[in-house]
Amino acid sequence: MKWLDISQGENSQAAIEAASAIIRTGGIVAFPTETVYGLGADAFCEPAVRRVFEIKGRKADNPLIVHVADMKDLDRFVEEIKPWARQLMAAFWPGTLSIVLKRKPGSFSDVVTGGLGSVAVRMPDNKATLALIRACKTPLVGPSANLSGSPSPTKAVHVKQDFDDRIEAILVDDAAYIGIESTVVDGRGDFPVILRPGAITLDMLRDVVGQAALQDSADVEVPRSPGMKYAHYQPKARVWLVDGDGKAEKIRRFLAENEHTGLFLSSELAHRIEAPMVITYDDTIKAAQLFYAALREFDEAGVAAIVCEVVDESGLGYALMNRMKKSADNHYIQ
Ligand code: TXA
Ligand code: MG
Repeated sequence: MKWLDISQGENSQAAIEAASAIIRTGGIVAFPTETVYGLGADAFCEPAVRRVFEIKGRKADNPLIVHVADMKDLDRFVEEIKPWARQLMAAFWPGTLSIVLKRKPGSFSDVVTGGLGSVAVRMPDNKATLALIRACKTPLVGPSANLSGSPSPTKAVHVKQDFDDRIEAILVDDAAYIGIESTVVDGRGDFPVILRPGAITLDMLRDVVGQAALQDSADVEVPRSPGMKYAHYQPKARVWLVDGDGKAEKIRRFLAENEHTGLFLSSELAHRIEAPMVITYDDTIKAAQLFYAALREFDEAGVAAIVCEVVDESGLGYALMNRMKKSADNHYIQ
């Protein structure tokens, strides 16, 4: 895997050219975004897209998000954009919003969208990645650059851990400022429905278009976002959550019985606990930035269990708690 570092300003043009040459010849290049790294390949190159599914170990019915750099890129594969969906794009792009739209039949291969007649699109907020998409002259598929089921990558080293020699290159820029994946909304109805929560919240959508809703999570039989039904964001160690009254006592009891435990806690709570392996956060924004990296760091350290303190479910906290609960498969320590 070629390490194309763009944090050194002057080399960035050469790095982008090298990366685009790889993608234009059917290769895979991991790219940075404001959320997590993506595994980039030409959405119109079916063999490359198949390889993305294969190396991730991703189920064929779990569609990929297609990344664009300019609104006109959508003309090639999107059939219809409702006026309110356009308003959302104007308000949040480039940024952390993926919108599911009706796709043009016969545009790219059905493999991209797992056979669905829709396609999720997003314009990521990273200058180099936008330049890369423009240089490729094609939209890029971009699933999170992790093996299916494991925590998403917020640092280039995480991508190396999961793929190393299985992809051609990585465009390195560890400046992800959000740290969890984009909000996915269904853009085909009369108003946006959130299929996967992210940094763009229900209130933010309502501020732009008036009405917005969260997909009913009871609706699991026919998930509108197929990815949400699979096990997600799970490190090798067993993850537990801690909430409610007496958190410090609960953690102390857990530590007494479970030796090799990593703790992911607010600094406030961490002050009250003696433990060898603690990663702390000061607020929800920091917690979201650090969460996936913390899970990987604890795995590297060989812990058997990870205990995460819950955050308040308002704003970005709602999306972070969605990921934390999935990691912990909803298990809380008592
Ligand atoms: O922040 C992000 O969105 C990152 C960065 C790299 O852009 N990408 C990402 O991709 O998280 P991925 O493949 O890990 O997650 C895509 C999610 C899955 O839950 C998938 O099921 C859903 O989006 N999705 C994709 N296309 C869809 C469609 N046509 N209809 C409904 N859900 C869709
Ligand atoms: Mg993913």
